[in-house]
Amino acid sequence: MKIYIAEEAGFCFGVKRALKIINQLNEKRQDIQIYGQLIHNRTVLDQLKAKGIDTIDTLAQLSPQKKLVIRTHGIPKQEEEKLKKAGIDYVDATCPLVKKLHRIIGKLNKEKAQIIIIGDKNHPEIIAAKSYAHNAVVINSRAEAAKIKRTDSLSVIAQTTLDTEHFEKIVSYLAEKAGKLDVYNTICDATIARQQAIKKLAPEVDFVVVVGGKNSSNTRKLYHIALKRNKNTYYIEESSDLKHTDFIKQVKDFQSAGITAGASTPPKELKKVKNILKNIKNNYNINIEKEIKNGKRE
Ligand code: F3S
Repeated sequence: MKIYIAEEAGFCFGVKRALKIINQLNEKRQDIQIYGQLIHNRTVLDQLKAKGIDTIDTLAQLSPQKKLVIRTHGIPKQEEEKLKKAGIDYVDATCPLVKKLHRIIGKLNKEKAQIIIIGDKNHPEIIAAKSYAHNAVVINSRAEAAKIKRTDSLSVIAQTTLDTEHFEKIVSYLAEKAGKLDVYNTICDATIARQQAIKKLAPEVDFVVVVGGKNSSNTRKLYHIALKRNKNTYYIEESSDLKHTDFIKQVKDFQSAGITAGASTPPKELKKVKNILKNIKNNYNINIEKEIKNGKRE
């Protein structure tokens, strides 16, 4: 089977930066606690846990003797202010491109603009970003856009990991709702590059494997983009998910596979996926032998 990895896949600049911060603190033998999940990837979070690095969900869980690191998705403004007020020493691993979103929303808020954020209202990035304005509205569909009242002026901004086509569609709909529309396309370059690469690769291969956390916004977008272009698209969290007989049975006779991975998926996982796919027929035979041996198959 021929295996192709999308031209852009896996760790992005913001994730690499956050992991570098953690590694540097770790080398100094600093006890660390992370506010929220550093990134949305189970493999990486398990590795951090194995190193004794805690994840806390509320400020009430803070251990004063540990160094606090803020996750890549950022935290709400009010919570950061609380940390500063309490004199808590912390390192901010929020991606600088997420910080840019905070700055734009903060500036628009000062100008009293009517702000519309396009994104997932339950995602930590958007919960944090929304806190930079008094009354920003979060929408993520045309139906939600339809509920926005017609007005003189709107300022629209994007979650960094949105699908560009989805953003553009909602923006063009909002254009009918306002006399003046200011558009801030804050979808990050890493997201755009990964989306473009899978758009190109997905129709050229027999099946696609998308690797990344199920709660990773950018990975989910890659999955939907690939699925639109190739119905044989599989979303897995880690390479071991490929070893199931059912999956192998479905893909073992295909001639080519494309692989992509979300911005929080480690390069090692990508390599492992590639190796498993290369040996897919052997794996199938081994699984069948095991099942016969265990009496699950005749
Ligand atoms: Fe930052 Fe974009 Fe990665 S916002 S964390 S570079 S996906």
